[in-house]
Amino acid sequence: VTQQTQQPEVNIGLVGHVDHGKTTLVQALSGSWTDQHSEEMKRGISIRLGYADATLRKIDGVEPPECYTVEETGPDGEATERLRTVSFVDAPGHETLMATMLSGAAIMDGAVLVVSATEDVPQAQTEEHLMALDIIGIDNIVIAQNKIDLVDRERAVESYEQIEEFVSGTVAEGAPIVPVSAQQEVNIDLLIDAVEREIPTPERDETEDPRLFAARSFDINRPGTTWTDLAGGVVGGSVVQGKLETGAELELRPGREVEEGGASEWRPISTEIRSLQAGGQSVEEVSPGGLCGIGTGLDPSLTKGDALAGQVAGEPGTLPPTREEFTMGVELLDRIVGEDEGSVEEISTGEPLMLTVGTATTVGSVTSARGDEAEVKLKRPVCAESGAQIAINRRVGARWRLIGIGTLQ
Ligand code: GTP
Repeated sequence: VTQQTQQPEVNIGLVGHVDHGKTTLVQALSGSWTDQHSEEMKRGISIRLGYADATLRKIDGVEPPECYTVEETGPDGEATERLRTVSFVDAPGHETLMATMLSGAAIMDGAVLVVSATEDVPQAQTEEHLMALDIIGIDNIVIAQNKIDLVDRERAVESYEQIEEFVSGTVAEGAPIVPVSAQQEVNIDLLIDAVEREIPTPERDETEDPRLFAARSFDINRPGTTWTDLAGGVVGGSVVQGKLETGAELELRPGREVEEGGASEWRPISTEIRSLQAGGQSVEEVSPGGLCGIGTGLDPSLTKGDALAGQVAGEPGTLPPTREEFTMGVELLDRIVGEDEGSVEEISTGEPLMLTVGTATTVGSVTSARGDEAEVKLKRPVCAESGAQIAINRRVGARWRLIGIGTLQ
């Protein structure tokens, strides 16, 4: 039992086009593990975060790759050895949810790109998500060629070759392509083998100041709860450095907007860590890897409905500055990826951009555009360090399209 209560140590994104099978694959990979989450965890965190933990195991006395499994025992009742617990972050494939995918990417240590064998390669978000991985610098990638149960051998080979050709020259060049059926649970052992080899747990330095990127925030109280029973607001996210501990003071930036004498200002929020949830249970401390829920002393109305998503949390006084405007170095893509390809025009003064910085997504207006640099004024401030990577999106037709990468100066 103690083995199952290990905290996840690495975050792996599941990315790819809508309906190519990301959610089904997460289910196949998380096996019976997700059922063991407490009801509170399910209600409060895992569903809202779109993630599942999986403990990857090795069956005793069986050779690789057949030895890899997510079950606690082998098919003939053999014992298994725990390799590590990972968190799968399921990025939405729908085109309008690109911002969510980009902010999810901020906490991914590696990714599985799911590509259906039944459709031509690439579909729009297959390409756009791969570009996002490239931009954010996620280069530990495994490709799952899914739905092989639905195609004949000839189409499987053709799709495999299309995938190889599509990734050549990208960050995923040379990544293993594993044919799987998420639904029929075929080749899950080969996929785990590839994940173990390609997506190692990054080295962590626990002595750094603790820092969490909030991806969600919510109110876990049922309607009608009386104030005496009211639980404090919950913030969900991923620790990206250091270690969070219960009882510690916590600061959130940018915090909240305070109106005073006709002017408004963003002020950091201060609270304390009352409880921590990770790996499906209450814990005393959380290290990087996986997603966790922080029970705070905040009024739940402050955390309701993801109000604090995109904020950065840590020890008071150690967080990066809050920025209402900034200058960024700009590197544009050659062309807009996705269905209606076109070349990317220079950024112009006055145009609105959607910017993703860490897990925060904000709209900014360009106050000065100078080729490889742009100054922007943000609608909602962000908390970010100089050097932070920024995904730059421009409105094209009815939606935001990824057009380049910025570096905060
Ligand atoms: P979004 O989250 O909306 O982006 O979709 P998704 O990529 O998570 O796809 P999802 O897992 O919801 O799968 C879409 C459909 O494909 C569902 O009806 C699945 O049952 C089906 N499906 C997924 N994987 C397989 C597979 O390997 N074989 C077959 N036959 N069907 C599959």
